[in-house]
Amino acid sequence: MPSLLRIAGLNTYYGPLQVLKGVSLHVDEGEIVTLLGANGAGKTTALNSICGLVPPRSGTIEYDGRDVTRARPESIVGRGLTQVPEGRQIFGELSVRDNLTMGAYLRLRRGEKREVAADMARMLEMFPILGERINKRAGTLSGGQQQMLAIGRALMSRPRMLLLDEPSMGLAPLIVKDILQAVAALRENDGTTVLLVEQNAAASLKIADRGYVIETGRIVLEGSSTELMRDREVRRAYLGKDYDEI
Ligand SMILES: Nc1ncnc2c1ncn2[C@@H]1O[C@H](COP(=O)(O)OP(=O)(O)OP(=O)(O)O)[C@@H](O)[C@H]1O
Ligand SMILES: [Mg+2]
Repeated sequence: MPSLLRIAGLNTYYGPLQVLKGVSLHVDEGEIVTLLGANGAGKTTALNSICGLVPPRSGTIEYDGRDVTRARPESIVGRGLTQVPEGRQIFGELSVRDNLTMGAYLRLRRGEKREVAADMARMLEMFPILGERINKRAGTLSGGQQQMLAIGRALMSRPRMLLLDEPSMGLAPLIVKDILQAVAALRENDGTTVLLVEQNAAASLKIADRGYVIETGRIVLEGSSTELMRDREVRRAYLGKDYDEI
């Protein structure tokens, strides 16, 4: 079976600064794959390259069997590949409802009003707290609720594949667990494919099937979640445990 997303040999720059150095990875349909790395390793740059926001200078990005290396961000979202950006980036002055509606912008433009309304109802079942706050300004929500809103907004575009950029950032462990369980449930119930960028390896490896480790723009390790959890270097660098404890 061909992969849903396959990137090969990506070299991405900001001006003269090369951030991605030959990054290759793939995500099969229905998989949850995590991309682990420390601050500044190039995780967000990888997602922004995939989404067309920071196109690579060389290398290829294939999604759903097509070359989308030079595709515009809007056309990539239109094909069902949606990013939940780092730091949520919700519209704090707008209501929760309006934030969710923005996620369905392309669908509303295509006239899918009824389907969008049905998805809004489903979203509020998935995250009931958003329903309780539906008319409140999004800026008044807690960090965890804002992350749910950011995911909910992305889901309103009906993605076949979600790119999640550090959803656990700044959240208490119990909230992280809730949010990642919601992501796992999405894959279970809807078959949504997920690429999950995280520094929190302990949390992300629990729901991921496989993972990659990126260091200063290069993939240095890949394997099943079980393999990565057992890996000495992963344990030392990302799980905060000395390998002697294994
Ligand atoms: N817009 C930009 N212009 C110039 N350099 C940038 C820009 N964005 C990121 N960088 C640099 O590129 C490198 C990779 O950054 P990136 O944001 O991809 O890392 P990251 O793995 O997502 O880190 P974090 O975990 O902190 O989010 C860093 O050295 C960063 O300073
Ligand atoms: Mg980042």
